[in-house]
Amino acid sequence: MPLVSSKEVLEYARQARFAVGAFNADNLEMVQAIIETAHEERAPVILQVSQGAIRYAGLSMAAGMVKIAAAQVDVPVVLHLDHGTSFEQNVRCLREGFTSLMFDGSKLPYEENVALTAKIVEIAHIAGLPVEAELGKVLQAGATPEEVAAAMTDPDQALDFVQSTGCDSLAVAVGSIHAMKGREAELDIERVGAINDKVGIPLVLHGASGVKHESVLAAIENGVSKVNVATYLKQGFVAEMCAAMDAMPDEVDFRKFLAPGRAAAKERVREKIRLFGANDRISGSGAFRSPPTQQRSAELGGAEE
Ligand code: G3H
Ligand code: ZN
Repeated sequence: MPLVSSKEVLEYARQARFAVGAFNADNLEMVQAIIETAHEERAPVILQVSQGAIRYAGLSMAAGMVKIAAAQVDVPVVLHLDHGTSFEQNVRCLREGFTSLMFDGSKLPYEENVALTAKIVEIAHIAGLPVEAELGKVLQAGATPEEVAAAMTDPDQALDFVQSTGCDSLAVAVGSIHAMKGREAELDIERVGAINDKVGIPLVLHGASGVKHESVLAAIENGVSKVNVATYLKQGFVAEMCAAMDAMPDEVDFRKFLAPGRAAAKERVREKIRLFGANDRISGSGAFRSPPTQQRSAELGGAEE
């Protein structure tokens, strides 16, 4: 089906209290793994194009793969820019047919982050596109606990930021760290809840590969509606690809190495979709099923599809 906007997907998830998985569309095999699994799980899904993917494949190629793959399934697929670096890059993505943008101004002084985010939101909204912004900073693996604590999102500042920029969703720094190879991080759930109470828009958890599952679930309960996972999928892909290479040292058909990698990534995508409660949300006709409360009354009336 045609790509959908992250606005409708995240609003639905927020209402139904689950989170949509946002997975990185790094190459053909990862795009296939994510889309096929979302289809099998009847889950809405976000495929995001990272800065690394843009450098590796080029913007048009990365976006094109997602568009072609999305057209082959009947679950809602969002094409999202991950950690957009500039106004220009966001405009290029808008022209390229993305259905969701992000500007990450978390390295900038607060006022500059506000100004640039607001400028992108203004043009994106004219074109009907939602924008994710980041406040506080989700750091990279290797950051110390003190650095992580100092970079966390302040709930009062988050309210001012959302009001000043008009952004549609907010990436928050609440204890996760990008590119962790083990699941060790615990989130500041009280902070997630406090931000959620203030801003009233879907919250986004970055760096979820390294977050304990209990913490992810608590964050979803407290307002996180989009969860980004990349490293954990890549780890599974690489492990199986390398095992296949070891097992077939004379093989030159590299697809025989990539296929097991893709299969491993699929199972990890499935695990995360189910953890986030995003499975079984889409009916056979491709529509969102009613959120739980409405679903319950529809069941009593016998009318739910
Ligand atoms: O924006 C992408 C994500 O935040 C992925 O982080 O690789 O630590 O799962 P991760
Ligand atoms: Zn991220």
